[in-house]
Amino acid sequence: MGRVTYRGMLSAPLLAAVLALAGAGLFTTPAAAQNAGGDGAETMPESFGFGRAATAEEIAAWDIDVMPDGTGLPEGEGTAASGAPIYARQCAVCHGQSGEGGIADRLVGYTPETTPPFGPRYEEWRGDGPDVPYSVGNYWPYATTLFDYIRRAMPSNAPGTLEADQVYGLVAWILAENGLIGADDAMNATTLPAVEMPARDIFVPQER
Ligand code: HEC
Repeated sequence: MGRVTYRGMLSAPLLAAVLALAGAGLFTTPAAAQNAGGDGAETMPESFGFGRAATAEEIAAWDIDVMPDGTGLPEGEGTAASGAPIYARQCAVCHGQSGEGGIADRLVGYTPETTPPFGPRYEEWRGDGPDVPYSVGNYWPYATTLFDYIRRAMPSNAPGTLEADQVYGLVAWILAENGLIGADDAMNATTLPAVEMPARDIFVPQER
């Protein structure tokens, strides 16, 4: 009851007051006020009077892009053997013991040797061909971006926690399970860009 009264009596007038202030232009930023005059960039202030410059460490932590050609890959190395225990501990719960998928995507399987190299999203979009689940093995055009994605986004419950060696190991494990590299092949900044992905030439980027 007390809560209902609080909401009814207090927040509505407060909201009205905020809207009135906003309407009166009191929340207009300095830049907006200056630019209202019309002549764009010259009137932009040096700063907006809040925040601070990012530190070199903060920028380095954020600036981790790996490009398809391998630009941006860090030092380090891993093999399927070094990646397997990390996969079992940190990935299998969502992606399945053998990468067959579970509550999250399938990562292994459906290479051209076993099935046609297309996945359901691709088929949905193209509207033709057999309905085959997609995986890294039949869908990803580059092995390098697998590194980027895993380092950036996985495990999805703790992204950004993996060291470069661990990511190389996980990438090696996934590629080896897909039959795309040998079981003992080490993945690093030199070998990973050289891995030929089956979907490389059939992948059609969406023009968005
Ligand atoms: C808590 C569940 C969870 C865990 C643990 C997890 N993932 Fe994922 N993973 C996901 C989800 C959900 C997606 C789909 C994300 C999306 O599409 O935005 C995904 C997507 C991926 C993809 C892209 C799949 C594709 O083809 O689109 C890869 C590769 C991947 N995860 C690797 C890993 C690795 C390696 C680990 C272990 C370090 C890991 N994941 C741990 C939930 C998880």
